[in-house]
Amino acid sequence: MSSVPPSTAFSPAEDAAIDRAVDILRGGGLVAVPTETVYGLAADADDPAAVGRIFTAKGRPNDHPLIVHIADAEHLGEWTERVTPSAAVLADACWPGPLTLLLPRAPRVIDAVTGGRPTVGIRVPAHRLTTELLRRFGGGLAAPSANRFGRVSPTTADHVRADLGDDVDFVLDGGPCPIGVESTIVDCTADPPQVLRPGGIATEEIDALLRGELATTPTGPSRASGMLASHYAPRCPVLLAGDEAEARAIASAAPGRMLIGVGVDLVTYARLLYEQLREADRQGATAVVALVPPANGLGHAIRDRLFKAAADRDG
Ligand code: TXA
Ligand code: MG
Repeated sequence: MSSVPPSTAFSPAEDAAIDRAVDILRGGGLVAVPTETVYGLAADADDPAAVGRIFTAKGRPNDHPLIVHIADAEHLGEWTERVTPSAAVLADACWPGPLTLLLPRAPRVIDAVTGGRPTVGIRVPAHRLTTELLRRFGGGLAAPSANRFGRVSPTTADHVRADLGDDVDFVLDGGPCPIGVESTIVDCTADPPQVLRPGGIATEEIDALLRGELATTPTGPSRASGMLASHYAPRCPVLLAGDEAEARAIASAAPGRMLIGVGVDLVTYARLLYEQLREADRQGATAVVALVPPANGLGHAIRDRLFKAAADRDG
């Protein structure tokens, strides 16, 4: 029988980096952490001043709530007042993994995290370095994606450094994020539960786990800031195409246009999406031409990000 891997599962450099990250977080600092989805900009979720620094560093409005990241589902009860039956099913099946559950907040959760809402977003990320960081840190980490507000989420440590520079105290480099789009957010306080943001776990999978209970189209006012019309945008315009022929035609209609999403499977498209949007800006592309994938599996999340990247911007 195999036993739990000892901390020798980490190289001396990784071990030291995790310890350094813990020290900085305990001192109220900001650490960029790798997850399986995108890099997060983390602070001690119990420390209002540290959480406040996240909003300053990102340039994010204070009323946009943050996800609390925890080491494992056993800690869930510390952060929510009530684990609903649907949340229990989803947590059991999907954690660690790219799923965020919205649940009624526990008294412990500070207003700076929820923006004063009665709910809190909670997730157990699946990345070996961040799992160990959470374990050694002992508490919860409030973390949005580690990009400036409204820009493309970072999927490498270099993206974080390019975006946030000295505004982040330390970057825990865990390599490129394997999924590449953010977690799926499910509001478990709604009956039936609602997907507020499609992400790394397909809506169909969540639907199957809840045996068709899920309301996939949110009704009423949106409660996730990622639902803003213009978001996840590169500096250059993003043009959308419904099929490959149209995509190629739009791409060749003017010089300097970068074509993405043609000839790749959905997993690869998602993994490289944000890197390609950044690359377009780095290369000085005049526009990104993106093939809109079918609405299944990771296609839901890719479509959502593309529609937001292509939405009109008011500056
Ligand atoms: O994959 C992810 O979810 C990444 C990694 C770092 O975990 N995090 C992430 O965080 O994407 P952020 O802040 O960029 O997006 C979280 C979204 C925001 O739109 C926020 O408004 C929404 O979740 N959210 C968080 N807590 C909420 C709450 N209590 N009620 C409504 N929306 C909430
Ligand atoms: Mg974000």
